[in-house]
Amino acid sequence: MTTKHNAPFSVELQSKIDTLKARRKPVQLGSIHFESPLLLAPMSSIGTAPFRLLMEDLGAGGTVSELISCHGINYKNIRTTDMLKVDPREKNIGLQLFGENPEAMAMAAKVAEEFGPKFIDINMGCPVKKVVGTGAGSSLLKDTSTLGHFFETIKKSIQVPLTIKIRIGWDQDSINAMEVIHIAREEGVEFVAIHGRTRSQQYTGLANWELLEHLGEKAPLDIIGNGDLHTVNFVREKMNTTKCSALMLGRGPLRNPFIFLEPFLKEGEELFFTPEDHLEVIQKLLDYSRNYAHSDHTLLISIRKHIIWMAAGYNNVSYFRDLIFKTPDLSETMKISEEFFTTLKDKRKRLQDHESFMTSGHG
Ligand SMILES: Cc1cc2nc3c(=O)[nH]c(=O)nc-3n(C[C@H](O)[C@H](O)[C@H](O)COP(=O)(O)O)c2cc1C
Repeated sequence: MTTKHNAPFSVELQSKIDTLKARRKPVQLGSIHFESPLLLAPMSSIGTAPFRLLMEDLGAGGTVSELISCHGINYKNIRTTDMLKVDPREKNIGLQLFGENPEAMAMAAKVAEEFGPKFIDINMGCPVKKVVGTGAGSSLLKDTSTLGHFFETIKKSIQVPLTIKIRIGWDQDSINAMEVIHIAREEGVEFVAIHGRTRSQQYTGLANWELLEHLGEKAPLDIIGNGDLHTVNFVREKMNTTKCSALMLGRGPLRNPFIFLEPFLKEGEELFFTPEDHLEVIQKLLDYSRNYAHSDHTLLISIRKHIIWMAAGYNNVSYFRDLIFKTPDLSETMKISEEFFTTLKDKRKRLQDHESFMTSGHG
């Protein structure tokens, strides 16, 4: 690689980023200010400090950490406590906690607050059995009678704003997002991010944008719409028409790291991000990750998955993927990536709307 460690982006790339960043319109969600209405969704094992930093560099108005166990925090588990670390360069980050017990959540939220997030978020959307089985995640949507006390107890323990991320309901017969939003508002929750699927749907079908728009229009709190915003066209369309106060993007930025910027391109504008720009982004992520990885092996595993995701939409990706997975060495991986991203003949990325991609997760 020609790029040095911790080097800034090239002048050309930084200038494209700055041009589009300047077109973003700030939003106020409750008492929280963001530079853009496009935010990074929480993603376990992905939404770590290096990736969050990168996404803020590339235009995300704000980010949310992966889900972090309140019990792990309270037991002072080292791996859990590591997840609370906020990089001093992060400006707009929320730490997301999960748990079922209000007192345990309150205690953990107080600890999390010490790490310097802008807000604390509660995971109320995780569909995974291990989490739901304990009464946490989307299970919290099942019994709304306890939610007021739950929010109140956590809110009382912290100074920074409290936010929640939910699904639209447990299943098709119990869609209750509006009720949850009303309870949240009573207890001073700042905004509600909503993944437009039920828990039963997991990641199947499409997010229910009709309902998200209805909630965005009628709910008494700022609503952040989330689900399936995977391509620039879909994000731009929603950004221009949505009744939600903001949008949250999870899987989309994995395949297109410029998805927080490209919706601000003007019609017919020829400015676009090249494969070489993607390579710079990978190098930057590697630089950020070096400060956080516990070993070269974990660094390799983590950067490799990002490289593969970022290559999506270009020609010959499956050949490239095979090559990368055969390489147990980081510098070799970067060499192969450089070769791939700098020799592509077709420099346009082509991603399809609603293409199935990563159909499991914690929210
Ligand atoms: C790999 C993966 C991990 C996720 N982890 C979390 C999480 O920790 N907390 C959370 O609230 N949602 C989590 N989610 C859900 C996303 O935040 C988002 O709601 C969902 O992916 C739909 O948005 P998208 O279509 O833009 O990806 C995760 C999703 C994926 C794919």
